[in-house]
Amino acid sequence: TMRDFDSKDGKMIFAGMNVEDIAKEFGTPCYVVDEQRVRENYRNVYNAFSRYMETEVHYACKANTNLAVLRILQQEGAGIDAVSIGEVRTCLKAGFAPEKIMYTGVFVSEEELKEVAETGVLINLDSVSEMEKLARIKPGAPVSFRITPGVGSGHGDKVITGNKGAKFGIPKEHVVETYLRAQDLGLNPIGIHAHIGSGGQHVEPFIEEAEVLSELINQIGEAGIQLQFVDIGGGIGVPYRPNEDEMDLNEMASEVCDVFEQNTDVRKIILEPGRYIICDAVVLLTTCTDVKDADTKKYVGVDAGFNTLIRPAMYDSYHYIQDGSKFGKACTSRYDIAGPICETGDYLGHDRVLPDVEEGDVMVVYNAGAYGFSMSSNYNSRPLCAEVLVNEGKAELIREREQVDEQWRHQIVPKRLQ
Ligand code: LLP
Repeated sequence: TMRDFDSKDGKMIFAGMNVEDIAKEFGTPCYVVDEQRVRENYRNVYNAFSRYMETEVHYACKANTNLAVLRILQQEGAGIDAVSIGEVRTCLKAGFAPEKIMYTGVFVSEEELKEVAETGVLINLDSVSEMEKLARIKPGAPVSFRITPGVGSGHGDKVITGNKGAKFGIPKEHVVETYLRAQDLGLNPIGIHAHIGSGGQHVEPFIEEAEVLSELINQIGEAGIQLQFVDIGGGIGVPYRPNEDEMDLNEMASEVCDVFEQNTDVRKIILEPGRYIICDAVVLLTTCTDVKDADTKKYVGVDAGFNTLIRPAMYDSYHYIQDGSKFGKACTSRYDIAGPICETGDYLGHDRVLPDVEEGDVMVVYNAGAYGFSMSSNYNSRPLCAEVLVNEGKAELIREREQVDEQWRHQIVPKRLQ
């Protein structure tokens, strides 16, 4: 079920700290990370799979690329799934060795491919054209291929990636010839990868994916190429609602590994969870600026809009929200919770039953760690917000709140207009 929190004297306690104290010290909106929870989540995935196969957990850093978060995972021994040269550089800066990083791009420019190849990270190729470019740029490079498994899963259409016809990967029918071609071109194919989508809550699609991958591993083996690893991508969902069922990670691990062990010679599995590792380790704190009685409903106005957390506006994603200043008090009213962005689509939650919210209350948005800060923007010229790390009851700033003048820094007003 969804992670929930304790209360003390009517205030929410997050990782040993009163959320009002955090809001007072660092201001709002701010994302607050529970360090121990990040570590536990990483260990849960690693331990679930390593009982069955040699396992590498590559954190999908697109979910949150804060350097302090990356450093915590580097200490845990994690690897990285990176999607851009920017993510690769950020992870190298955080201390990850190039061998620990796998780059999986889509529609990669030649320029970016060159820069990535120079860093020495493992490149997971997404297309025949990308393969041909890399063979010229870096002869002999070890590679893997992302294949399109024809199996999709996710919390919504916008995040399903593995279905037939998707923009990602090599279609099943062309996989064997592509591996052979890679060899002819002088590359060294050592692995195979697929990613079905994000936020799926069922084991079944992962098993189907493993079956497709197993069949391909065998076909590739029959063609004379032995692979060292299989990478099943990310996509492990987490519950966003109270009492929502949670996918059983141990069941997933045992069934998926079983497919590979029974049907293939591959004994090393790589996973790329982003959401599972960081989602419930983070809350977004946002202050109530106004309570408004509109004709047909009541609004709790807050200082975080879709510039800070875009998931509700973009995917209609549900994020549980509580009043951290009146935590555990009887819920008596129904509200929409909306931010300061000048669009009707700017909301964090619809139709939520809460205590009588007052201006100044610290509202807490749950499960805000995955694709929260990393998808935030400067829309309406609002500065990117702060990030805070909590460990053993102490809070530290891990990202300063941006200042408005930082948004002017890269802009140029031509002389003739001055
Ligand atoms: N591996 C690959 C190749 C991916 O494309 C992704 C996510 C992951 C791993 C990690 O997936 P996860 O374990 O986090 O589900 N912005 C959306 C999610 C987009 C996911 C994109 N790819 C959201 O807020 O729900």
